[in-house]
Amino acid sequence: MLRQQTESDDRRDRARAQSRRGGRLRKGLPFAVAFAVGFLLGKRDEDGQADAETDEEAGTLTEAAAQIRERAMPGQTDQSAPGGTESADAGGATDQPSSMGSVAGEQVREEERESEAEGQAESETPEIDEEVAALSPPTTHGMPTFGLGTYQMDYDECVESVRTALRMGYRHIDTAEGYDNEDAVGDAVDEYGIGREDLFLATKIGPQNLDYDHVLTNADESLDRLGVEYVDLLYVHWPTGEYEATDTLEAFVELRQEGLVEEIGVSNFTVELLEEAIEVSEEPIFANQVEMHPLLPQTELRQFCAQDDVDVELVAYSPIARGDVADVDALRAVADKHDATPQQVSLAWLREKDVTAIPKATSEDHLRENWLSLGVELDDEDVEKIDAIEERRRLVDPDQAPWNQ
Ligand SMILES: NC(=O)c1ccc[n+]([C@@H]2O[C@H](COP(=O)([O-])OP(=O)(O)OC[C@H]3O[C@@H](n4cnc5c(N)ncnc54)[C@H](OP(=O)(O)O)[C@@H]3O)[C@@H](O)[C@H]2O)c1
Repeated sequence: MLRQQTESDDRRDRARAQSRRGGRLRKGLPFAVAFAVGFLLGKRDEDGQADAETDEEAGTLTEAAAQIRERAMPGQTDQSAPGGTESADAGGATDQPSSMGSVAGEQVREEERESEAEGQAESETPEIDEEVAALSPPTTHGMPTFGLGTYQMDYDECVESVRTALRMGYRHIDTAEGYDNEDAVGDAVDEYGIGREDLFLATKIGPQNLDYDHVLTNADESLDRLGVEYVDLLYVHWPTGEYEATDTLEAFVELRQEGLVEEIGVSNFTVELLEEAIEVSEEPIFANQVEMHPLLPQTELRQFCAQDDVDVELVAYSPIARGDVADVDALRAVADKHDATPQQVSLAWLREKDVTAIPKATSEDHLRENWLSLGVELDDEDVEKIDAIEERRRLVDPDQAPWNQ
């Protein structure tokens, strides 16, 4: 045991020496400086800080408007409140020493005057409306149960979608090293300026990189691309390729114990594979991400994960069956009843099942429509009707998937 431990340490040190975390510092520092300067100049981001300040002076903030502003300018809602709740970023900027000087103060006032007029124009066409701002998903063990998937988004699409999603209130972003867009997620998050603790970031290590050494080096590389010191959830993307439960999970456990990963996840695991993972892992398996929607209800997995001595979260990918739910009569009927769409009903049904959903959307309309599913409340009759759908459709079904072995 001791010998194995020493070998393991050597292996880890060698593997990780090749992958340094300087990128995270290089990336983080200019942002922090730009952020502080931008804040002092009243230009925190493109979303019109002056607009919000004007509102505050007038004392006209409704709760929804406060949420709108918090989402547009995270961490600044209670900027003036003693011991306020602003994010670490905003707090740091607010606490800049007064020796920053009166020139900066003049500039702030000048900017305030200039942007007051702009702010009025912007407030007439708010990007985030009250309906969106009034909603937020429940969380489970710190994970927002609704998030954004980013599969097949290229860099520009991904930056834009993540930025728009964050503004709407999405706080759970799902990516993977295999999506080739972790850098875009990181850049969008940086640009938005949200406090790290206010965001739930999940990524995955691909099947070709699941031996012990690769897990450690590739996790480091993912953190670099994302520009963060830790991720909230790191998944085994598929239990194929280099995956070997003991070897792979030993590295995941180590990452968790080092604080680089808050929670360990697996993806595309059957009940049998999940049992094995729970058995060999020294740290809890937090979540299993699988395809799930009303055409693939994953009944067996759900029952297994809900057991007290298992307690694994299910995260649904392809939660609207990539749009296919719109073809299903029962979903259309429930949607009509609620003045909603079948996609929203599918997401609401997942919520009823205590399953986290991470729909992917690039268009603002889709992002908004999916977010508004949080306001769709299904009753027992609706759920029964959806549970009774007999059609089955699995969209992600490669030959090497464990359920095909
Ligand atoms: N672990 C895994 O092996 C695995 C596998 C697959 C997916 N995932 C994760 O799960 C996420 C979601 O799954 P997915 O991308 O496969 O499928 P999905 O979320 O079910 O569907 C995405 C597709 O539906 C469209 N769409 C989104 N909202 C819509 C709406 N309200 N009405 C009509 N169409 C809508 C999107 O179009 P636009 O983009 O044009 O808006 C996109 O084409 C992925 O992005 C990824 O993060 C994980």
